[in-house]
Amino acid sequence: MDPLRPLTDRRLVIVTGKGGTGKTTVTAALALAASRAGLRVLAVEVGPDSELPGLLAPGTPDPGYEGVELGAGLRAMRIEPYRALGEYLGLQLGVRALADRVLRNRAFRQLLDAAPGWRELITLGKVWHLEQMQEPEGRPRFDLILVDAPATGHGLTFLDVPRVVVSAVRMGPLRRNAALVEAMVKDRDRTLLLPVALAEELPARETEELVRRARDEIGIAVDRVVVNALTPPPLPAGLEDLPRRLRGLGTQRLPGLPPPASMAACIEHLRARSALGTRYLREIRERCGLPVVALPALPAGVEGPSELAELAAVLAPAHGTRAR
Ligand SMILES: Nc1ncnc2c1ncn2[C@@H]1O[C@H](COP(=O)(O)OP(=O)(O)OP(=O)(O)O)[C@@H](O)[C@H]1O
Ligand SMILES: [Mg+2]
Repeated sequence: MDPLRPLTDRRLVIVTGKGGTGKTTVTAALALAASRAGLRVLAVEVGPDSELPGLLAPGTPDPGYEGVELGAGLRAMRIEPYRALGEYLGLQLGVRALADRVLRNRAFRQLLDAAPGWRELITLGKVWHLEQMQEPEGRPRFDLILVDAPATGHGLTFLDVPRVVVSAVRMGPLRRNAALVEAMVKDRDRTLLLPVALAEELPARETEELVRRARDEIGIAVDRVVVNALTPPPLPAGLEDLPRRLRGLGTQRLPGLPPPASMAACIEHLRARSALGTRYLREIRERCGLPVVALPALPAGVEGPSELAELAAVLAPAHGTRAR
């Protein structure tokens, strides 16, 4: 099998998955790896919450729509649909103040709130716009844009809206813009969908469905699945019979340690979790027919750059650096 193309080799990686699977963590780890490898990276959150910047540079406040520089070659922003719409209408109408007046109009906002799909389209339109941005000398403003997408369900609808608009609207600027966004989503060379799942029973089936829909209905490239937070085997090779040996000590106590039977039970519990994780990991690989990237559960959680770097080393192993 051909080696997988590095994740950081695309222009746009959209990280998706169910709630709480680790999308933000994976987006942040990739952003860190890519910026450390010399790429100019933009990490984008979609929606009201801002968690990424605090992970990459603890203490950073919400960067909002304007975005913030988190370090060399690393920028973060949050796409708010109303702001993106204001910007878009401003560009279309040529008068920003007029766009702002339209958007402040209560009746117009009520109409918008009831309209399906515009948030998704305008958000992806903004991503397209960011991807097209260039430096004065003509090179792209960002080498890599990472999108921390809304939880699946929403995540795929989010990507499907441009296609629906292109098939429903026959002409005009809306169709033209949606077609540009659809082309970006479907460009297998530039764009990748990166599903993140946990190694559990239900996620294995859900991830299979996600990959199928992404490929067949949306036409976006998916080349691997990230399986996050796997419990590693608790014992190093050669020590597999430690629980048995501990139990063999009976009621004897080892100085400064819990009863041997309790230690044996802890090890056995972790071993069972690890084995179950490995089983579901295999199931995800087989159901999806894709390679999986397994990320370990870090015992103290993920608080900042040092833990992100541990995950980044698995997601994007360093192959040397590229000039920024
Ligand atoms: N490999 C890991 N090891 C330990 N903890 C992890 C790992 N990955 C994620 N976590 C923790 O799990 C929680 C959920 O992760 P995260 O916020 O990245 O998920 P999410 O998919 O973005 O969630 P949401 O759908 O709410 O946006 C966080 O507390 C995070 O620190
Ligand atoms: Mg998140």
